[in-house]
Amino acid sequence: MKLVVGNQKAYLKRDEVLDFIEKTKNYDCSETIICPSSVYLDLYLDKSNYIVGSQDVGERPLGATTGEISADQLNSIGVAYSLVGHSERRKNQHETGPMLINKINRLFENDITPILCIGETQEEKELNVTKDVIGKQIMEVFDGLDQTKLEKIIIAYEPIWSIGTGLIPTNEEIEDTITYIKDLIVDKYDKRVAVLYGGSVNKGNIDELNKIDLVDGYLIGGASTKVEEFLYIMSKCE
Ligand code: PGA
Repeated sequence: MKLVVGNQKAYLKRDEVLDFIEKTKNYDCSETIICPSSVYLDLYLDKSNYIVGSQDVGERPLGATTGEISADQLNSIGVAYSLVGHSERRKNQHETGPMLINKINRLFENDITPILCIGETQEEKELNVTKDVIGKQIMEVFDGLDQTKLEKIIIAYEPIWSIGTGLIPTNEEIEDTITYIKDLIVDKYDKRVAVLYGGSVNKGNIDELNKIDLVDGYLIGGASTKVEEFLYIMSKCE
């Protein structure tokens, strides 16, 4: 079985979310995590049997932080997972390692599982520095956390050049990178963590991707907003 995590980003309006929930409600979604926009978290929690995750979390606890969503609030409505450090947020909101440490600490305090996103740009891939880049992204966060809790983190390896482009690495490249990630975390922290692959996962490549045993699951963007495609991917990951 592979873990399926849908990241619906800011793609859908409310009526489209309701339609998605309605059309998938007769399928077993109880092991699939869906990360909708924050404004729809409650809809999924109330009306569906997905496990619900958030796309981000604030750095600070409950308090005077206008516009933020605290981990305490997410926990109070039943959110179980949260993406942290998605490349779109690293780029657009200038999220840095120290900020991600704060976010993950808030999640730990609230028993919410962090899904830490890492990945290289096209340019970094061409320069052949993928492992340096993702190694740094892991270590700058892991070094700053309570070492006894590292196992609770899930890593999502998402090459930035693959997100939303239809391009994906070869299975050999994915296997090589995920082996590096897992070995680094065993060697340096003595921990085993689950690693997801993300970036243009769709119904056309899921069978091929599923041949990689090392991949523990997928983080799925665009395809998680399309009912038939998402159900198909879910059925291939049972
Ligand atoms: P994509 O997005 O599946 O649309 O490429 C993945 C992600 O950004 O998590």
